[in-house]
Amino acid sequence: MAQKNIQFPKGFLWGTATAAHQIEGGNTNNNWWHFEQRPGAIKNDDSSRVACDHWNRYEKDFDLIKKLNNNAYRMSIEWSRVFPGPGVVDRKALGHYHDMIDALLKRKITPFVTLLHFSTPQWWDNGGGLLNGKEAHLQHFREFCSLMVREFRGKIVYWNTINEIDIMALGYLTKDFPPGEISMPKAFRAAANLMKMHLIAYETVKGFDPDAKVGLVHNIQGVRPDNPSSLMDRLLARFVDYLFNGAYFRALKKGKLINSLFGVYPGLRGSTDFFGLNFYNFLRVSPRLPGMVKQATDDPLCGEGGLCAGLGWEPYPEGLYLSLKRIHRELPGMPVYITENGIGTDNDNWRRQYLVDNLKMVHKAIAEGVDVRGYFHWSLMDNFEWAQGYLSRFGLVNMDFSTQKRTIKGSGKLYAEISKMNALTPDILIKYREEIYRPRF
Ligand code: GAL
Repeated sequence: MAQKNIQFPKGFLWGTATAAHQIEGGNTNNNWWHFEQRPGAIKNDDSSRVACDHWNRYEKDFDLIKKLNNNAYRMSIEWSRVFPGPGVVDRKALGHYHDMIDALLKRKITPFVTLLHFSTPQWWDNGGGLLNGKEAHLQHFREFCSLMVREFRGKIVYWNTINEIDIMALGYLTKDFPPGEISMPKAFRAAANLMKMHLIAYETVKGFDPDAKVGLVHNIQGVRPDNPSSLMDRLLARFVDYLFNGAYFRALKKGKLINSLFGVYPGLRGSTDFFGLNFYNFLRVSPRLPGMVKQATDDPLCGEGGLCAGLGWEPYPEGLYLSLKRIHRELPGMPVYITENGIGTDNDNWRRQYLVDNLKMVHKAIAEGVDVRGYFHWSLMDNFEWAQGYLSRFGLVNMDFSTQKRTIKGSGKLYAEISKMNALTPDILIKYREEIYRPRF
């Protein structure tokens, strides 16, 4: 039987995603920069000092987005650049962001802008950072959000409040994230404060621009019992799933913070106009595993230079489908944008296959009634992958960091074709029919 197009809905947004600290270079006023200075904090002692030098090369990078035939782009505005000190606005930096947004609009690329993508100003961290939930401290973030919406209303319609609260809170459960401290109570406190910051961002942006579309971006971690026939593993999986995922749905549905001991915030209920879904991989959990959680796989395909070099994350396209269905179940009728999905590998064949396999799953969810309105691949170009430095390459565009030369990869060309056709064509479906990512549960 002849293959047919897998067609995406009219007006579907095709884009890539980035974050300021990972690409701009020169962000030396935030907590990540300070964290990076600790010996051994970043693989190979890599530094974000120059990164992709996007701050100076954004025009060229936006031309690349055009070459990918994308109609949208997700980026973040660096709070610490706009506010180098408490209450101090850097007008030049602000003007620079205006130029960037104008350059996107000139190219007919819809901006999706994240207000907080991991990095926070160092001066704010000195005042307690994510652990300080006092109004006077959070007021600084409100001031930033308020300035952003007043400056950019009319230009930016789509705002992301906070990127991945659960992952930011991991800064208190792993050494790979500032402050690199291990404390479960602090992780909870950070998550609860971040949820309050989400609400601040939501209410502030909507307050000044009721037509804006504002959404939380959450990374749904697929959680699997390491041994599905073990009761302990299954119970632990339910608990971990609650911590990483269930608690956030509960907050959006019931207004309760991550740990209700920290209070009920009725405003949280429904405080998102869309669900920004980041989906990458899944975790295996078992009390028998060291640390009880395993992100990386033992699969030989995943070794150095292999399928998931660097982070070793095990791809799981079906997990993307299941996550979309779950959002639909938990928050009926909620529009969804896939705000990140990608693979850190040097092997671009894997990336192409990953792209097609994941998009098939997105389409399957749409066909079953999930209101998915866009897909943003992580990432436009290889970039500063946090504690992994430049080791883990997620880009559709290859970066030669010694020369700053950008070259569109095969996966980028494939993505350009998909975006142009708004479909997975029969040619693509035949070429990438393999579906190699069947996790072995
Ligand atoms: C996400 C994060 C991105 C990027 C990606 C790949 O959790 O939002 O900034 O680093 O993971 O690791």
